[in-house]
Amino acid sequence: MGSKTRGCCGWLIVALVASLVATAAVVAIMKRKPGGGGGRKLKPLPVPGPPGDIDSKYGDALGVALQFFQVQKSGKLENNQIPWRGNSALDDGKQAGLDLSKGMYDAGDHVKFSFPMAFTATVLSWSVLEYGDQMSAAKQLDPALDALRWITDFLVNAHPADNVFYIQVGDPDLDHNCWERPETMSEKRPLTQINQKSPGSDIAAEAAAAMAAASIVFKSRDTTYSDLLLQHAQKLFTFADTYRGIASDSYPKLQNYYNSTGYVDELLWAASWLYHATGDQTYLSYVTVQNGKAFADWGRPTWFSWDDKLAGTQVLLSRINFFGSKQTSNAENMGLKMYRDSAEAVICGLLPYSPSATGSRTGGMLKFFSCYHESIQGRFLHIGELQIFFS
Ligand SMILES: *[C@@H]1O[C@H](CO)[C@@H](O)[C@H](O)[C@H]1NC(C)=O
Repeated sequence: MGSKTRGCCGWLIVALVASLVATAAVVAIMKRKPGGGGGRKLKPLPVPGPPGDIDSKYGDALGVALQFFQVQKSGKLENNQIPWRGNSALDDGKQAGLDLSKGMYDAGDHVKFSFPMAFTATVLSWSVLEYGDQMSAAKQLDPALDALRWITDFLVNAHPADNVFYIQVGDPDLDHNCWERPETMSEKRPLTQINQKSPGSDIAAEAAAAMAAASIVFKSRDTTYSDLLLQHAQKLFTFADTYRGIASDSYPKLQNYYNSTGYVDELLWAASWLYHATGDQTYLSYVTVQNGKAFADWGRPTWFSWDDKLAGTQVLLSRINFFGSKQTSNAENMGLKMYRDSAEAVICGLLPYSPSATGSRTGGMLKFFSCYHESIQGRFLHIGELQIFFS
């Protein structure tokens, strides 16, 4: 496999696991047996709804999916349950006077890419926010929170100044020279940083989204930590929005791994999460009246992936359009309606029997792409996820 494919494959697996966590949480509950009876016909219950009986088969799947995060951990392990894992990368960040030992490895290699890692944290947070009570019923909430915090601890340390954020630990070319255990690796672990002169709005905004979403998760569980995450999220968003650019324009070498095709989707995604985390009307105005027309590509449905967050943003903002917000102006509401219409177009394209269902499906109506391309591949995985969600 080419190094490019390999690097992307790794985090695709991580992103897939994050998706699986959400999916398995839903499925575990949706497949619950109705009220102790053994009836075969299961009526789908409103999701999220109160947790019912757990079907252990799906509960176990959720547990296994979450275990993946334990396996991927970098740093000094706490309560490690994986017999063949140990401490590793304890000196990551030391050359900059930072502790970047935590976070998670790319699968198959030991580079830490902040961009897909942060996206994983955002999606994991969303899963906990929507289905946390179901995860808890399946005894999987604590592992999910543990995995999330392992990433957000890294993100906090990777943001040592307002306009400085570390986007990569390790060198993929060095790393890929050798298959080895992270516990015994000996390669140099160089750091890559974005700042005012070398911006990376795509990555800074994704990290802002992750920390804003996680701040909501931890709000009732650890207020101090939640506040800390929110401060970092707000500062990172300001940095991303003020010094605009794609990280791979600042560092062309980055194009070989998780090349983001743009940053405007991440800016909208981050601002949407910040609005949910703070209720601050400025963020709502940012995504609607200020930048909606220029950034949101309304009416052109895409897939949700580590590269393209527009579909996620549309669904996230539809919530506000559905449930309303008293202070919202007419112009803002118009913008929200546009997001909601786009979200509906995305979902109707995926639902197998909707009038606007898109083609390329298996006999079982699973959507597929016939070409193999890194971004298509990522999108494919998320289509699978969405299809399970809505089937
Ligand atoms: C990376 O993305 C940029 C922006 O879309 C694009 O111009 C460039 O060709 C991409 N590079 C690779 C190697 O795919």
